[in-house]
Amino acid sequence: MLSCRSVHKVYATDRGPVDAVRGVDLEVAAGRYAALIGRSGSGKSSLMAMVGGLARPTSGTILVDGIDIWSLGDSAMARFRSRRIGYVFQFQSLLPTLRAIDNVALPALLDRSRSRGDVYPRALELLREVGLGDHHDAFPSEMSAGEQRRTVIARALINEPALLLADEPTADLDEQTEREILALLTGVNRDRSTTLVLVTHNLALAGAAEQVVHIADGAVVP
Ligand SMILES: Nc1ncnc2c1ncn2[C@@H]1O[C@H](COP(=O)(O)OP(=O)(O)OP(=O)(O)O)[C@@H](O)[C@H]1O
Ligand SMILES: [Mg+2]
Repeated sequence: MLSCRSVHKVYATDRGPVDAVRGVDLEVAAGRYAALIGRSGSGKSSLMAMVGGLARPTSGTILVDGIDIWSLGDSAMARFRSRRIGYVFQFQSLLPTLRAIDNVALPALLDRSRSRGDVYPRALELLREVGLGDHHDAFPSEMSAGEQRRTVIARALINEPALLLADEPTADLDEQTEREILALLTGVNRDRSTTLVLVTHNLALAGAAEQVVHIADGAVVP
């Protein structure tokens, strides 16, 4: 499902180049739950951004579902991201002027082949699955942080992605909510065979993963 080969990321900064990711080789099989752990600044988010098609690697190859994603043109990449990858990131936000259900429906409505009549019932079903059936017409400002995160998860699932990427999705939430969000993500992995790559600082959460990948100084620790 996911294959990283010799992936590097160098950021140009005023202080000179920063080697954030230094030759990562990584394989995650389809349907797996992999946890990425490592100290702050070790390069986890940089790697996730490249895997998710959001930041171009300085060098190396990333295959998702057998496709060399960084060889795609802009519009093919946008389509691939929207159809195949779901994102749940820490400070990712909902569109403030849209109700929960509209936020969830939006990525599917961008796909012209799908109609509102098909998308909205599915969006409502997903909101129910994440425990927000009663909040479907709430605006983000009317929801708690945990409710907003659950809405982000529902939104990430509307296009039935093959790969779900979660970068510290619970870092700013209390422990109970953290467990609930994690149960949601691992439930998606189990019930839909969606490949899940999760970045976490929480070793207990990482311990439940089928594959634990340690990152240190921009590389995978063998
Ligand atoms: N846009 C950027 N420009 C310059 N340097 C960056 C940029 N993003 C990250 N870095 C640097 O790259 C390194 C890796 O950062 P990254 O955010 O990938 O780490 P991380 O493992 O996700 O850390 P955390 O656990 O704190 O989220 C750090 O030294 C960071 O300062
Ligand atoms: Mg990070």
